Amino acid sequence: MRVVRVAPRSFRNLADEPIGFGPGLTVLHGPNGAGKTNVLEAVFFALTGRSCRTRREREAIAFGSSLARVEARLEPDPGDDGEPLTMMASISGSEARRRLVDGAPAEPGDDLRRPAISVFMPDRLALVKGAPAPRRAHLDRLVAALHPARAGLAREYGRALAQRNGLLARARRGAEAAALSAWDRALAERAEPLVAARAAAAAALAAPFARAASELGLDGSAALAYRPRTGELDAGGIAAELAARRESDLARGFTGFGPHRDEVEVSVGGRSLRRYGSQGQQRLGLLALLFAEREALRAARRRLPLLLLDDVMSELDPERRARLVAMVDDGGQTLITATELDHVPAAAAGLAIADGVATAEERR
Ligand SMILES: Nc1ncnc2c1ncn2[C@@H]1O[C@H](COP(=O)(O)OP(=O)(O)O)[C@@H](O)[C@H]1O
Ligand SMILES: [Mg+2]
Repeated sequence: MRVVRVAPRSFRNLADEPIGFGPGLTVLHGPNGAGKTNVLEAVFFALTGRSCRTRREREAIAFGSSLARVEARLEPDPGDDGEPLTMMASISGSEARRRLVDGAPAEPGDDLRRPAISVFMPDRLALVKGAPAPRRAHLDRLVAALHPARAGLAREYGRALAQRNGLLARARRGAEAAALSAWDRALAERAEPLVAARAAAAAALAAPFARAASELGLDGSAALAYRPRTGELDAGGIAAELAARRESDLARGFTGFGPHRDEVEVSVGGRSLRRYGSQGQQRLGLLALLFAEREALRAARRRLPLLLLDDVMSELDPERRARLVAMVDDGGQTLITATELDHVPAAAAGLAIADGVATAEERR
């Protein structure tokens, strides 16, 4: 599936006119403040009902308006046997949200009908330099994309964890703690497959990550490693460890051990990119991660995600720009913003953006 068109209405500074996209790579170019990033955000919003820029989607409502909406038209790729799809999202000033898929309220399964979305934006750097939680969530999304049957593992673990934490909190207030043994077991049984699924997904990423990092010019050997908090333990071992830590869990009122404390470590030359990387290195690390995921999905014969690349070219030298373009020229759909069209080598469809208006250009 690919996005052929989005139609924004009162969305940031964008004109209320449809914007069309080509099948492969489309370059959105124009001066700073023109609305390039807003177009990427509009695409993301139409497909997810969320912003990829802010947690306060209300900010996307055009100044002076009371409601923003974006409708996206998706069509199957040639040779793909899906049905065309229309996805619409809106948000009002009072945060009333609506998501329609083919005119009916969106249901959870609808998101499996659209492509997954990989986003590179400066704000997304938190994934590399921030706390571990977003990295775990990101890895869990990859687990689901690689193996849809494993999509529920993280949720089920999360649910059991919430139950055990609830029990710990009550036990602290003097309620009986006997039920905890049963929850140690239940939690451990959900932890083991989650850790295994994360380990497999991370293993599928490791080699492509190292390769993409070196191709993008991240100097020094880059590595990605999954560090499960539970180490090599199986469900029995995890349950035993939970039992052994019960006193301190009771004292704290929450569970201190388990895959909700896992880390995905990204390093360059053996040093944590999160702690020691420069901003430029962290950006390249994030890009390499997105490309590695793409390769893992391709190897698993999964659909390629829609790739939204905001402002990646400015920091790359011409040779690396060419490499990046070669990497995305792989049959998937990619939207990339750049201040200069020349920053994106090779033939690509162009969209000139000026004052919120997008004008299609001939293929170069
Ligand atoms: N809610 C909004 N309503 C109208 N204009 C907005 C809104 N939010 C941001 N803008 C405008 O959008 C422009 C920035 O667009 P952006 O897509 O970030 O530019 P760029 O082309 O540099 O990526 C700015 O001129 C800003 O004033
Ligand atoms: Mg921008």
